[in-house]
Amino acid sequence: MNSSREDHEPGHGAATASDATLDAEITLLPVLDHLESHIPSGRVNRLVDLGCGHGIGTVELAKRFPAATVIAIDVSPAMLESASNRVEDADLSNRVEFLLGDFDVDLCQLLEPVDLVWASLSLHHTTDSASGLRNAVKLVAPGGRIVVNEFGAELRVWPEASPVTADGVWVRFGQALATSRIDHLGHDPSSTNWEELLNSLRLSEVGATECQILHSPVLSSRERRWLTRYLRRAVDRCASYMEAQDVLVIEELLDSAHPEGIELSTDISIEMSRMLYTGVRASGSAAQEGKSS
Ligand SMILES: C[S@@+](CC[C@H](N)C(=O)[O-])C[C@H]1O[C@@H](n2cnc3c(N)ncnc32)[C@H](O)[C@@H]1O
Repeated sequence: MNSSREDHEPGHGAATASDATLDAEITLLPVLDHLESHIPSGRVNRLVDLGCGHGIGTVELAKRFPAATVIAIDVSPAMLESASNRVEDADLSNRVEFLLGDFDVDLCQLLEPVDLVWASLSLHHTTDSASGLRNAVKLVAPGGRIVVNEFGAELRVWPEASPVTADGVWVRFGQALATSRIDHLGHDPSSTNWEELLNSLRLSEVGATECQILHSPVLSSRERRWLTRYLRRAVDRCASYMEAQDVLVIEELLDSAHPEGIELSTDISIEMSRMLYTGVRASGSAAQEGKSS
């Protein structure tokens, strides 16, 4: 097994800052739009971006909650530095703090509880989801909310009738990706029942919302660029889990001269989803439970 903090998903993790920017544009901003509709921004004075990565979400959160102080936490000093540069460029340094912290251990000593904890594609990096989530929930003040953004439906690109879909290549590719993800993380992130875990921590208003991410045809050049990078990295990562013939088909689609390929096709889309899991920390008892456990 590789380290659980290594990149395990084309499009996130060890991506460069510019890859991460493009990835966020395609996959994170649509999800943050859902967050806004769930939480009136006025109620949030302090929020944590847990596992902030390159800080794209941090900047967006600071913009979307203009009255709030944002505390960006990550276990990686390099990520924190990248996030800090991004926040500075966005002229938001006066409202964003950075904290080197590990949600595999209790973070309560590092900061006072906050109104909102946002954990986007970070908590699955722990091998013990229950413990990671418990540590995250401990950062939520009584009456405050946690929102966990995790993977939903796998990426769909080509229409049902297209050969890559009809011949089953795409399904097998998705399976190979899922297997490589498990190998990299050391566990299957899709097997975590986040709702059940939130309920077990005695949160109220526990719920799950599927956020559709849809970029319709005809894709823009930036959407095509994201797709090309995603597929390139995906094939590199999971070729060893696939039949050579299937790898060839996907490679062909990366060929800029192929009529069905990413560059020339006019009927491909980007369709996937993310899941937002949320819960509110009860006043009093749950807060004490969190502090003492
Ligand atoms: C895939 S990135 C997500 C970045 C950002 N939240 C987003 O949605 O684009 C996951 C981040 O979680 C961080 N991370 C992984 N394990 C962590 C841990 N135990 N404690 C704190 N951060 C962690 C990684 O360093 C990485 O920056």
